[in-house]
Amino acid sequence: MKRRDFLKKSALVTTASALVGCDVKVDFENLSSFKNGGLPIVISTWNHGVAANKVAMNIIKNGGNALDAVEAGVRVTESDPEMMSVGYGGLPDRDGHVTLDACIMDYTGNCGAVSYLQHIKNPISVARKVMEETPHVMLSGKGALDFALEKGFEMENLLTEKAENLWKEWLVTSQYKPIVNIENHDTIGLLAIDKKGNISGACTTSGLAWKLHGRVGDSPIIGAGMYVDNEIGGACATGVGELVMKTLGSFLIVELMRQGMNPQEACKEAVMRIVAKEEYNDMQVGYLAIDKNGNYGAYSIHPGFNFALHLGGENKMHDAESFVKS
Ligand code: GLY
Repeated sequence: MKRRDFLKKSALVTTASALVGCDVKVDFENLSSFKNGGLPIVISTWNHGVAANKVAMNIIKNGGNALDAVEAGVRVTESDPEMMSVGYGGLPDRDGHVTLDACIMDYTGNCGAVSYLQHIKNPISVARKVMEETPHVMLSGKGALDFALEKGFEMENLLTEKAENLWKEWLVTSQYKPIVNIENHDTIGLLAIDKKGNISGACTTSGLAWKLHGRVGDSPIIGAGMYVDNEIGGACATGVGELVMKTLGSFLIVELMRQGMNPQEACKEAVMRIVAKEEYNDMQVGYLAIDKNGNYGAYSIHPGFNFALHLGGENKMHDAESFVKS
């Protein structure tokens, strides 16, 4: 049986609370996240997700596609100087440079990314250009900047006065210590399903504050910071990128859903892979996932990770479940 036919057959069977996959038994009546299913849906990390979701869902409501929606949604966060972990206004590395990472993936499996990009306010749109106008998936550093300028993006100073002052305060001690749930925001990862049922995702960040110059995190890595398979679902990550990269968290979640887990179970399992191996006391990682039917899940290492969900006409914040209980 072809995979597409198999998936269609599985979808029919799920309504009867029976078998999915060859030997994975799932009781769909008892999976809480499946009761939340519905389309279209936009879901994104942290408080800044509410404004991003609103813009993304407007595009979908007006008949736009998920790819346009995810790009426009995260551009809101990138452009906001008050959001000090993404785009313009992001906190710099230890040498005072704002360096940005982003990736985007569509429902056909195409994807694009930029890493260590400086001076461009909306790296997600450069990532989309990499996807659509080059034979490559990722451009980095000066090459990414040259490409952006060639495509008409404007070169700007992304270091705001507020971010520069915080960096100067940090220089006094110069202690590197990732902070769990920094100011209740971090990377924005955003996943959407449009009216046709197509899924896309976007992920963008200025990375860890005071990182070593040249450090690149999980956010531009397809499969780590974000991953979409239109036949299965999508996932995205926030938090300490090194832990996400070591376990290729977003790809893992989508593959676990392919094997029969629901989005919540898959996010939890991806966190368990981290805590089984890593010192996680001062490290936060949070995952979001959606499946093809618009069911969602969220799970983090520590309490405090929250997400914005636009579903059924409401755009509201929710707290994720976590491995460490408060
Ligand atoms: N998750 C963002 C980063 O580690 O850069």
